[in-house]
Amino acid sequence: MSALPLVKYGQPILRKVLENVDDFDSIQNLVPDMFDTMYEEEGIGLSANQIGVDLNLMVIDISHTDEPHPPAAFVNGRIVERSGTSSMEEGCLSVPGVQVNVTRAESLRFAYQDLDGNSQEKDFDGLMARVIQHEMDHLTGRLIIDHASMVDKHRIRKQLKELSAG
Ligand code: NI
Repeated sequence: MSALPLVKYGQPILRKVLENVDDFDSIQNLVPDMFDTMYEEEGIGLSANQIGVDLNLMVIDISHTDEPHPPAAFVNGRIVERSGTSSMEEGCLSVPGVQVNVTRAESLRFAYQDLDGNSQEKDFDGLMARVIQHEMDHLTGRLIIDHASMVDKHRIRKQLKELSAG
């Protein structure tokens, strides 16, 4: 297991709709690396394209927050139902230094496969629902900056320019 370099804003893979996982054997070594990378960067969620891998796969660990939930890996995730709304400032490891107010569903029903390929469907709310939506955005090529208001877009314009210049 080892932490991998993080893909930052400006790299095309962050704007791609990622491929479904068919071969579950191929992700068994990848998932521990994703957790390690997330911990190294002190994040609470990570999508596969953030380490340059084109697969519908995310890891989340909010177990240290006041909404404890065991660390989880979700494969081929799909949000099947959303309800309520909540707004919160979000950051993203791939867009360092940028915070954007993002309105998302308060709760959701999430269909996914576990690491053994078994289909699951569960309800999530609060922080877990928020992080799932953040990572689902990544898996469909979206970033927090896409949720920014006009005022926020203006505010972060210079930071984004510097980030994409590498
Ligand atoms: Ni992110």
